Amino acid sequence: MLELHNVTITYPTGDGIRKCSFQVAPGEMVFLVGPSGAGKSTVLKGIYLDEWPAEGHIVVSEFNSLFIAKREIPYLRRRLGVIFQDFKLLNDRDVFRNVAFVLEVVGRRNKEIKRRVLRALADVGLSHKSRKYPQELSGGEQQRIAIARAIVNEPYILLADEPTGNLDPVTSREIMDVLVRINLRGTSLLVATHNYEMVKNYNGRIIRIENGEII
Ligand SMILES: Nc1ncnc2c1ncn2[C@@H]1O[C@H](COP(=O)(O)OP(=O)(O)OP(=O)(O)O)[C@@H](O)[C@H]1O
Ligand SMILES: [Mg+2]
Repeated sequence: MLELHNVTITYPTGDGIRKCSFQVAPGEMVFLVGPSGAGKSTVLKGIYLDEWPAEGHIVVSEFNSLFIAKREIPYLRRRLGVIFQDFKLLNDRDVFRNVAFVLEVVGRRNKEIKRRVLRALADVGLSHKSRKYPQELSGGEQQRIAIARAIVNEPYILLADEPTGNLDPVTSREIMDVLVRINLRGTSLLVATHNYEMVKNYNGRIIRIENGEII
């Protein structure tokens, strides 16, 4: 499903990650935990090939970073749903269109788009907000919309980079519960966070990263 084998990613400054190896099995819940600057975001960027391994390789579903062609990268990314600390919603369109966008890009038919978007919004409990704009929603609601967008393509793995970093403790818990619910239905979940106190309440596997190395 997801495998990192001795992955090194180096930035021009010399930082990054060094010889990182781990796997995420189908349906597994995994937390990548470490302090600021440890390399958590770099690991996730490697997985969706925003940064390229200088050494080692990454396997996502049928794709291997050693052999993948540039034109295949969009197909690899369709296996993944990604959510971020700052939500990254598009402010020029309503909630429905924010979630529909990824389906429009891949050329789905309108009827199919409507069915999938409404189901994804129901999954995150925000069916009634489909005609709101992102700036009309609270932070927690915006993150739910970002989750709906990430799952609307039915990815194998949901990657979350500090998904509750901008949210208060109560809202953070609600967002984590949404992610756990999606995981229980079979989608693998990999959450990067510095917040060990939060993740220790969940029964996912914890991978620790410090100074660019898995420890
Ligand atoms: N684009 C970049 N150019 C140069 N160095 C970078 C870049 N992105 C990250 N780094 C460096 O690589 C190291 C790992 O950064 P990364 O963003 O992966 O950490 P992180 O664990 O996600 O931290 P945080 O919890 O603050 O998000 C850090 O030393 C960081 O300064
Ligand atoms: Mg980060």
